[in-house]
Amino acid sequence: MATTLTWKSKLMAGPYRPLFVVAVLAYMLGVLSSPAIPLVRTVKPVGTPEQQITSSPAVVEQPVRQQSNDACKKEEQQPVRGHMMLSKDLITFHAYCQKQAMVPEAIRAFITREIFDGVSPYEDFPSPCVADLIQPERISGWGSEKTVFRRLMEEVRPRIVIELGSFLGASATHMGGIAKELGLKTEIFCFDDWRGWPGFRSGPFADLKQQNGNNMLLNQFLQNVIARNMSDRILPMPFGTVSSLAVFCKWGIYADLIEVDASHDFHSAWADINIAYRLLRPGGVIFGHDYFTGADKKGVRRAVDLFAKLNGLRVEPDGQHWIYRSQKA
Ligand SMILES: C[S@@+](CC[C@H](N)C(=O)[O-])C[C@H]1O[C@@H](n2cnc3c(N)ncnc32)[C@H](O)[C@@H]1O
Repeated sequence: MATTLTWKSKLMAGPYRPLFVVAVLAYMLGVLSSPAIPLVRTVKPVGTPEQQITSSPAVVEQPVRQQSNDACKKEEQQPVRGHMMLSKDLITFHAYCQKQAMVPEAIRAFITREIFDGVSPYEDFPSPCVADLIQPERISGWGSEKTVFRRLMEEVRPRIVIELGSFLGASATHMGGIAKELGLKTEIFCFDDWRGWPGFRSGPFADLKQQNGNNMLLNQFLQNVIARNMSDRILPMPFGTVSSLAVFCKWGIYADLIEVDASHDFHSAWADINIAYRLLRPGGVIFGHDYFTGADKKGVRRAVDLFAKLNGLRVEPDGQHWIYRSQKA
């Protein structure tokens, strides 16, 4: 004991003191940033499914100390390296979700009142200002009629569908057609800012017109829905996906089936998936396109896989689509 004290006091008092302080700090930083002592951990949601939707974030910040020298642990029992170090900001999405779910029958009238001043966007459409700028029917998409749509419509038999990214309405009207065939009362809410992306009017979409900087995407979407006789079951939400999702959460509008097909970069897909998952009813299904596309170094796939890891979900690929089944049932 006496030897130790003498040794320590020599170090603390002598010319080595700065070195000693730096060494102690380096040791502490090394220990704290080690994957063996993660800063956050995933916590299984508690409470009823509704409470889980509204009050329990998928990942809760909690300091956890783990055994660091358990070399016998199997690979799959280890925490997912990397995600433990995610900053809280990357896993926090500020969407307050109303606990009480709105009854499906009330949703359309509510949105029409809140968003469209009480007048359906299909009423008196098209106005003389745009009639000459749109085509009687102009629909095309990407993988919008793949078998995954029918498979999930038949399996889930959804009352409420939310689609993130609708473009000209190819996938929305396809789902609407399947719902009709199945005799379902499905209503589909389409979230899209209908701006497309810079330069989308080149190539195959060069025939779509624009006026004073306004492209005709939303007008052509409305026209397509009318042409396919689905204006009673498809309603647009003409805003960004994240703000629309947040407001649906606030209003307590939940969906049985959610399709994610808006922007294809990691950060956009990450935000869409994180918030959209909260809007899924217990037992619902969320799916999306572009699981294997290369955009943003496979940004969609990275977001889908990371969310699945953090939340203990299984990714089910189906062609170019990915699927998660909600664990909340
Ligand atoms: C690939 S298209 C959707 C295709 C459609 N699902 C189909 O299969 O027919 C993507 C759409 O997402 C929209 N979009 C992209 N990012 C968005 C965002 N952050 N908010 C709202 N809409 C967005 C674009 O305007 C575009 O219409």
